Amino acid sequence: MSAPNSSFDPVEVSALQPEAIAQALNDALEAIGAAVDLDQLRAVRTQVAGDRSPLALANREIGALPPAAKAEAGKRVGEARGRLNAALTARQSALEEERDARVLITEAVDVTLPTARRPRGARHPLTTTQEYLADVFVAMGYEIAEGPEIETEWFNFDALNIGPDHPARSMMDTFFIDPPEQGLVLRTHTSPTQIRALMGRELPVYVVHPGRVFRTDELDATHTPVFHQIEGLAVDEGITMAHLKGTLDHLASTLFGAGTLTRWRPSYFPFTEPSAEFDLQCFVCRGNSVIRNAADPDFFGPCRTCRSEGWIEWGGCGMVNPRVLVACGVDPERYSGFAFGMGIERTVMFRNNAEDMRDMVEGDVRFSLPFGADS
Ligand code: DAH
Repeated sequence: MSAPNSSFDPVEVSALQPEAIAQALNDALEAIGAAVDLDQLRAVRTQVAGDRSPLALANREIGALPPAAKAEAGKRVGEARGRLNAALTARQSALEEERDARVLITEAVDVTLPTARRPRGARHPLTTTQEYLADVFVAMGYEIAEGPEIETEWFNFDALNIGPDHPARSMMDTFFIDPPEQGLVLRTHTSPTQIRALMGRELPVYVVHPGRVFRTDELDATHTPVFHQIEGLAVDEGITMAHLKGTLDHLASTLFGAGTLTRWRPSYFPFTEPSAEFDLQCFVCRGNSVIRNAADPDFFGPCRTCRSEGWIEWGGCGMVNPRVLVACGVDPERYSGFAFGMGIERTVMFRNNAEDMRDMVEGDVRFSLPFGADS
């Protein structure tokens, strides 16, 4: 800054000359007009109105003028700074408006557009099939029974008339929980829930229990060490095998279309007498094992759905062995009952054309998705 000087002529302070002020203002207004966004305007503001800007520097020179010259120079610089600030304010609000309008467009969200949503999972067909099977029985008045997956040998075997030396006991490929003397196993079938239901409920008893079971099988295309069964039990006065047949046929029709039947083959289970294994009629060839060729109706080809078996093995069933009723404190003179149990994996494989058991256990959503949420 120049030192105060009483004999100083203001026209000699070049920064205060009218042309210089006008030039500085002009340059500033031009720069302000040229700022295309708020960032640029911030830089321009420092440059044209900051401490080291030409007009600020000129303003400082006023202090060096003799008193007589101060007023006029002050007025000139003050006017220029006033116009400058007005221009800055106007440009600032114009650019803010522009920015707001632009943001409204560029950041607008069209809620009706399809978006890259996170892929939804799907419920596993084993789960949905279990629930569907259970629903069919609930609609017939059955209750859902419960039972643990870690079971005592007594419930899993003894109470079901599978004594310690019974061959079925060793045939079942059982997982024993260490130490084996404590008599705990991973249940090998859902049948122990029959015993729990009979001991825990008032008669008559109509229950189903879908659940997980375990056997020491290696995982391959048709076996898995963890699989699912659904157990059914009806104990009442006057229950006969006809009720059992009607119940299984009703289930087959509900799952696979009206008129789909089941058939029985004589079998043996320690906990039922008489016992049967039951097959499900193929819903495509209706048990014929061949189907008419669509192109040439005189020609019959193999049925792929049941691999030309006509029927698929579904489960075991029979009339509850009176020894089981007695073990549960039920009077076999007054009550009789039927029981059945079948594999849910087989049902899904047959119903949904799933060919490899390994697909069922891997939990890959690509397997589950085509079944949808409610299949
Ligand atoms: N628990 C038998 C199994 O896993 C299946 C079975 C057979 C269940 C006959 C029953 C039945 O309820 O009556 O092989």
